[in-house]
Amino acid sequence: MAALLFLLPSLASADTAGAVNPVKSWDNHWHMFLIIVTVLWAFVTLLVIYMSLKYKRKKGQGDGAYIHGNVLLEIIWTAVPLIIIIFLGVQSWAVYREQIKAPQDAYEVNVEGFMWGWNITYPEGIKTTNELRVPVGRPVKVNLTSKDVLHAFYIPDFRIQEEAIPGRTTYVWFNPVKAGEYPAYCTEFCGSGHSLMLAKVIAMEKTDFDAWQGKQKEGMVMSPLEKGKKLVNDLGCLGCHNVTGEKTAAPAFKGIYGRDTVLAGDVTIRVDDAYIANHIKNPKSTTVKGYAMTMPSYNLSGEESKAVIEYLKTL
Ligand code: CUA
Repeated sequence: MAALLFLLPSLASADTAGAVNPVKSWDNHWHMFLIIVTVLWAFVTLLVIYMSLKYKRKKGQGDGAYIHGNVLLEIIWTAVPLIIIIFLGVQSWAVYREQIKAPQDAYEVNVEGFMWGWNITYPEGIKTTNELRVPVGRPVKVNLTSKDVLHAFYIPDFRIQEEAIPGRTTYVWFNPVKAGEYPAYCTEFCGSGHSLMLAKVIAMEKTDFDAWQGKQKEGMVMSPLEKGKKLVNDLGCLGCHNVTGEKTAAPAFKGIYGRDTVLAGDVTIRVDDAYIANHIKNPKSTTVKGYAMTMPSYNLSGEESKAVIEYLKTL
């Protein structure tokens, strides 16, 4: 019993900042199970080996003596496992309680699973996909749901996993104490793209996090035109296209909107909203005559695509 009790203070472990960190509780809990089952396993296994050798039936030996019952032994082998199981049950309950109750001051984000990725919405209105940025030193509560089928959100480094269910909101919380990148996975088979349903948690120092948020918010208040300009710059479009009109690896953006253009296959089209939106998504389908097909496809949202078009119109 004493050997078991010494493990008790392992619960509600706090990290250096004094905040509750379920990672440590889970790890302690796991190690405790491991130690107890290993000791039991070793005890039973060694006893089986020892008994088999000691009481092996020898040549010419008859049946052994018939032994009936041993009250003391029976009490021991009932009471000891019972105590161990109650002890582990209480410990499990305590860890569960700690994990199920998100701290009041937690930073709360909404995460929505979809086939196949994760949409993240921050309290400030910022949105990201497959990238959950969080400030270090503050617990994070993740409100989970799903757009289509069952998914499960799993961050091994934080020892958390929870179902993402359409039409319902579940939650988990974790405490990022160290800046860094932590992989997140979908752990519920959800179709052919299941294994690609990866995300990462990026824990940032508070100042870096605030700076990142500031930058994101700037993007939110920009006009479509400004946003389009920023996208064209950020996505690296100008590596091939240019805005001055000289001939480079790709058709110049200058005057591109509304221009009649001959595609490979000698079809003439007019560069309009539909053409541009489609070309950003499926560049291979509409290569301009005289140019090699080198453009990657960009999965822009409808709004982003419109912003890019607004910007191209002005060139
Ligand atoms: Cu989503 Cu598997």
